[in-house]
Parts: sequence; C-alpha cells; structure tokens
Amino acid sequence: MSQKTAKYRKDYQAPKFTIDTVNLVVELDKTNTRITNTMKIKRQGEHSDALVLDGEHIELEKVVLNDQALNTSDYTVTDSTLTIEVEQNEFTLTVVNTLNPSTNKALEGLYLAEGTFCTQCEAEGFRRITYYLDRPDVLATFTTKVIAPSADYPHILANGNSVEHGEEEGKPFVTWHDPYPKPSYLFALVCGDFDLLEDTFVTREGREVALQLFVDKGNLDRSEHAMVSLKNAMRWDEERFGLVYDLDIYMIVAVDFFNMGAMENKGLNVFNSKYVLANPKTGTDQDFLNIESVIGHEYFHNWTGNRITCRDWFQLSLKEGLTVFRDQEFSSDLGSRAVNRIQNVKVIRSHQFTEDAGPMAHPIRPDKVVEMNNFYTVTVYNKGAEVIRMMHTLLGETGFQRGMKLYVERHDGAAVTCEDFVKAMEDANDRDFTLFRRWYEQAGTPSVEVETAFDTDKQQLIINTRQTVPATPGQAEKRPMHIPMRISAYAPNGNRIVLAENLLELTEERQSFYVNGEFAAQLASNEEPIVSVFDDFSAPVKVQRDLPEAAMLTLMAHADDPVSRWDAAQQLFTSRVVDAVKSQSTVEVDKALVDACERLITSDTDPALIALTLTLPNAATVGEYFETIEIDTIVHNLRQLKRHLAEHLHGTMSARYAAIYDELQQRDYRLSGEDIALRQLQNVLLSYLTVAGENYVNLSQTQFDNATNMTDRLAALQASVWGNASNAITLVEAFDQQWRGDKLVMDKWFQTQALADTDGTIANVKTLMKHPDFSLDNPNRIYSLLAAFTQNSARFHQFDGAGYALIGDVICQLNDKNPQVASRLISSFMSWRRYDAERQALMKQQLEKIQALPNLASDLQEKIENSLAA
Ligand code: TRP
Ligand code: ZN
Repeated sequence: MSQKTAKYRKDYQAPKFTIDTVNLVVELDKTNTRITNTMKIKRQGEHSDALVLDGEHIELEKVVLNDQALNTSDYTVTDSTLTIEVEQNEFTLTVVNTLNPSTNKALEGLYLAEGTFCTQCEAEGFRRITYYLDRPDVLATFTTKVIAPSADYPHILANGNSVEHGEEEGKPFVTWHDPYPKPSYLFALVCGDFDLLEDTFVTREGREVALQLFVDKGNLDRSEHAMVSLKNAMRWDEERFGLVYDLDIYMIVAVDFFNMGAMENKGLNVFNSKYVLANPKTGTDQDFLNIESVIGHEYFHNWTGNRITCRDWFQLSLKEGLTVFRDQEFSSDLGSRAVNRIQNVKVIRSHQFTEDAGPMAHPIRPDKVVEMNNFYTVTVYNKGAEVIRMMHTLLGETGFQRGMKLYVERHDGAAVTCEDFVKAMEDANDRDFTLFRRWYEQAGTPSVEVETAFDTDKQQLIINTRQTVPATPGQAEKRPMHIPMRISAYAPNGNRIVLAENLLELTEERQSFYVNGEFAAQLASNEEPIVSVFDDFSAPVKVQRDLPEAAMLTLMAHADDPVSRWDAAQQLFTSRVVDAVKSQSTVEVDKALVDACERLITSDTDPALIALTLTLPNAATVGEYFETIEIDTIVHNLRQLKRHLAEHLHGTMSARYAAIYDELQQRDYRLSGEDIALRQLQNVLLSYLTVAGENYVNLSQTQFDNATNMTDRLAALQASVWGNASNAITLVEAFDQQWRGDKLVMDKWFQTQALADTDGTIANVKTLMKHPDFSLDNPNRIYSLLAAFTQNSARFHQFDGAGYALIGDVICQLNDKNPQVASRLISSFMSWRRYDAERQALMKQQLEKIQALPNLASDLQEKIENSLAA
C-alpha cells in the first residue's frame, strides 16, 4: 500500500456511479467487527465501465448483487479496491466485510481505544470500514444499525436521529437515520460508556434541538464550558450568518485518542478531549478559549462543509478556510477582536510562512497530492482563512454576507469547488475577482516593498509599492497578486490624519498611489506624515520597508489599529535581533525602546495587548528574515534581548505585577475578558522578572503555591522552567505529585519541560518518555512532549544532532503505528536546507534513515521525497 501515486487536481472526473442510499449493519466486536453494507447504486451517464469501490485494511466476506450472491470469480479484490462488472444501470449491492478495531492504532476508520469504539473517516477513512465510493462528491442517505458487543456499552451513537432501539441475542442495538445526503467522510459511529451532559437549544425557526455532550466517566465537572460554547455558537451563526441548525439532535463525544482537534461528522461531532474538558483547576484561560473556538469551528461546518461540501479533496480550503474564518470571527465577536487577530497573525508568520517557504509549499488549493492527510495544513486552514478575510475586506461585511447568501442558495446540498465560492462572491457584488483568484493558484508568501513620501506642494501622500512572489516547487514563474492594503497616517505627535482612502488595492508588480488627506490640520510645516501599512494585517504578506525608528515608536504608541501597534513593537524587537545576527554582535537595547516599553507597561492600555506586545517574536518568525537561518545566534540574541529588557524594566514590571497579583487575589477566579487579560499580563511580567535575577524567584514560588487556577499555576511553572530559575526542579516535582495520572493536565507538564532550553533537555525528554503517563499510542502525549520539542529551536537544533536523532527515532517507531502523527512530527525536518552545512547533513541523515524503513508510510514518503528533491 505504501507506494501511493500522486493525484492531480486537473484530472478530476465526475464519479461513474452514485450511491443514493446506504444501509449499514455494524456488529461491533473488539477484534472481529462485521459490516453489512447495502447500497442502492446508479450508473452515471452512458458507459459500461466496471464499478470500482475503495477498501483498505478490511477483509471481504461476501458480495450480493440484487439478492444474488456473487462467486469470487465475479469480482476482483486488491488491497485497495473491489471491482465488480455490473450490467444494470440501477442495482442494489450488499458487501459484507470484517475488520479488527483493536489493532487499529492509526486512529483512522473504526478503532477501539480504552473501551470506546470510535470512527474517524475524513479524509479517506471510510474505506477502512467498508467498500465504498469513498470520495466527497458521492452523497448518500445513511441508515446505520449499530449492535454493541454487550450490555457494557450503554451509549450507541451514529449520525442523524435514532429511529429504533432494542436488543438482539442479549446485545443492545440502535438504528440511526440521517435524512441529509452526505459524503462518507462525514459518517460516524461511537459506542461506549460515558457520562452525559444534556441541554437544549431552540432555533430561531422554533426547532428544539437536544444537545448531548458525552464525556469519559467522572468528567462532568469539566464539561460545562463546552456546552456553553456550543449554545453560543448556535446563536452566533443565526445572528451573524443567518444559518440555522437542521436536525433535532446535536451530539458531541470527547475521546482521548484522536489524531486531530475534532471532527464535524453530521450531528455527531467527535472531539479530542483536550478541546472539551476543562475547569478552572485543570484548564488554562487559553484552554477555555481554544474549546470555544473548536466547538464553534465544528458547529459552523454544519453549513460550510456538511450541507455544502467539497467536490474533491483539492477543494479542502473551501470548507476549512471558510470555517476557520468563521470561527475566528466568532471568537472575535465574543471576546477580544484585537487579541484574536494578533494570535492569528502569529500563527501565519511563524508557521505558515515557514511552510510556504519550504519543500511542501502548496497553494491553498493544492494541485498535486499523494497523501491527503498531509494537506490538513496551516496553508489550507489559516492562509485559506486569510484569503476569505481579504474578500471580506474588499467587499465589506454587507457585501460578504450577500455573497454568503448566494453561495448557500446556489449550492445547498451539493459538492462544490473553491471556484463556486469565489463566483458567488463576485456575482452577488458585481465584482471582478479574476486577479484575486491567484491566491488559490499560487503558493509562496508575497513580499511587498513599500516606500512612502510626502509631496508638500500637492499635500499628497505618495506610496510606491513593488510586489514579488517567490518561486515554489512546481511553480517557477509567478504573477502579481490582488493585495488589499489598509493604510492610515499620523503626525509625529501621534495624531491621526484623515485620509481620502484607507484601503489600497495592489494588482500590479509596481504601483504608485497618491493619497489625499487632511494633512494641514495635523502637521507643522516641517513635518511629514507617518504611514502605517497593512493595518489589521490586511494581507498575508511579508513587508519590506525602511521606516525610521522614531516613526516606528510613534506607530507603536499611537496607531489606531491595535494590530499595527503590536506589529510596530515586534518590528522594533525583530530588527534589533536581525541586525545583531547579521553584524555578528550582541543585541542592544536603547533608551528609546526601554522608555516606550515602560510607558506601555504603566499605561491603561488593554492588559492583554500589553502582554502580547511584550512577548518577543519566536526564533521561527525571526528566522524568516534570513536566507540561511543562523539558529544559534538568533536564539542567543532573543534570549539576550529579553534579559536586557528585564534588567532595565524590572522595577516597573514588578510594580505592575504586584498590583495585578494583589487585585486578582481579592476575588475568585472568573473567566471574564477582563480577568483573562490581567492574568495574561501578570504572567508575561512574571516570565520577565524570572530572568531578571534570583531576587524574583520567590514570585514564581508564591504564585505556584497559592494559585487557585491552572492558568496561574502553569504560568509560574513555565516562568521558572523556561527562565532556568533555581526553583525549577522543585516546581516540576510538585506539579507531577499533584497531577500524575490526570493525563490532559500532565500534557502541560510534558510540554513545559520539552520547551526548556538547558543542556539536559534532550536527556530529560527521553526520561519523560518512560513516565507512566506517557505513551506513544496516544497522539496528545506525542504532541505535548515530542511535537513541542521540535518547536524548541535551541534544543531540536542542538549542534550535535541529538535533537534530530531523538525525533528521527520516534518517527521510525510511529511509521507503522500512526503514520498521520509521524508525518506531523517530520514537518520540522522539511526546511533542512535553510540551516548551516553541518545541520543540513545531520537533518538529511535522519530523513534518509526514515526513508530506508521497510513499509514506509505514504504520508512520510511524500514529505521526504519532496524535501530531498533538488
Ligand atoms: N475536518 C476536521 C476539522 O478541521 C479535521 C480533521 C479531524 C481531520 N480529524 C481528522 C482531518 C483526521 C484529517 C484526518 O475540523
Ligand atoms: Zn474544519
């Protein structure tokens, strides 16, 4: 199976057959589950081709065509297909097959994990359950009868409404019917024993929807926030998008064994338990916010993904880019828009830009795929959401919603393409997006050079731009993109200058814009306006610009857009580190920057924004400014910059820290925007103070000991461990003692240590792999300890290659077990060519070691081949 061949978007062909109804009988058994799958099938168009069904890792027992059992000579089975010559144009086909859920560690298809039967079908997992046309443009109505192995499994779930239940030979069964035709990737069944949290939601159409949240026994006290988030999401989608839920029941099951975040199966979402379970003692503020966003995301898929689905997997961003945009807007409407935007920008700059500059770079709508699981990427998801956001920027909220309405009217119930979405936006608004479509075609991060000048005579701002899009694998030549650039202007004293336009549209390689404005009202005769560009990160591009420090400081203090204020500070920090690395000196801080930070810390700005501004860019973000990433000096200078800031500002910082700490001590933990922001600032200040010197060790100790919530306790642990404080070991041990056995909580402990920058980190990670709470069978453990370690720039890239070897060995072990997770871990090796010669050799050595594995998984094969190709 491992040698899969590439598929190309241009080769799409409509299915030769469709399936109208599917009747499944699933006789669950731990090691030998039997599936009886009866399908009503129709030939599409004039042809006499054979029916070719997909099927993998399953045992065929029997094939029945229109009540006639077939002989083995009537069909052909390979390890990935079942081919049947059929004469009729309409027929009923029954396929009986068996499979073993217990040995399924890949967590795709039907698997048994800790006593729960569970499925994961996206993208191509349904073929591991039964023989089928496993492609998203085949939409069928499903009826599913699930027979539990015994009475030990009281909850028997599948998509849609339950229509019958009873007992057969002492085994309970439930039959479910989903009235909405759907592709196989949205199929789900779950069978196990759970605690159940129930609620209801009445839609604006008056439908009463039963809401059911299934969690592992004993976890009800961690499930409330997920339920609240679900109700908020249902209400929000009605209010902002006019989209209303369409079944009488909505179920969410939280499971511990899951490769990804969650899955939007129709009426039966399956969630990684980390995106459901949290209470203030076990979950951080960020966990609560993540839960809200993922619950929202999966709920929003009901329209953008399920009712309107993808024609083929190259169109994945049709549902994912749009649904990420929707969940970002949901979080922004409920919480802080600025904080959400900044966090999303950080993801693009640190992860997506890196992916876009590497050997796996692909457009948000890829042209070539070997293993579909490899394309659930930050590019398809997050850059895809940025592309939707740019349409929103160009059309405005009203125009965008007009486009959404037309999109839904046209395509409800259908499997469509990204082109159909763009067309609906165009048609509803009478706009021409011909050029804009290049965002779907071209990979690579555009780079925009910006130069501004002021024509005093004409009282006009001149903005010169030049855009370039870098070559990426398979795309040597690039054409200019349609780039929306939001701008604003300020006087040197920070006063805003009204401009005639605030949104410029770049469409050519070089362009000059002449912008009028009320300059005289704000500028003295010898002054020039300071221009802020790409306000709110209005396009996912890299900006190249020489702006004097004084102007940057003005923007940092006075830009109207909080994202631009944050960004100005990040540019100030980044340029110092970049300059130090390039000149092989050590980073310095000057009074102007220190004063700016001091004013910020003592200001009444939203504490969350102060916290984000003081958080330095990570090494990956800084690395994007270099052709060859000098990782040692980048890490060293970032650390120095933090230390210098802490040394200059510790007085101001400790005063503000103490004020917040005391204020929060006065009241119980609240999950309010205000308190989340205060904790965020308190904890960023703590991390600075911890590197300011041993004088402050007592702060992390006290905060850790007295914490009433996980946000404060974990922040104290992290400040101590990441700041290499003398109490680090004490806190690490105390945390282990308190939380050992509580796996979701212990993930935070693993992650904290994986990200420590000490000579002992690698040895410690290896020791932690033997911790009773660690297991290579569980993706969350692998992500928290090992994937986290790959983000530890200093130690993953340790000069002796020990970090590479550690992860290389783990990938080898995961190749057979869980290739999807193995493939996520290998991402950090992709940009091996960006490092120095010694590291290149060491990383390449690991890639070649993995490549030599017997039965190399297609997931790994695709990434390794792409990254080794010249
Ligand atoms: N569609 C899911 C989401 O974005 C993603 C997902 C969940 C997934 N599990 C998966 C994708 C397994 C591939 C394989 O919400
Ligand atoms: Zn999604």
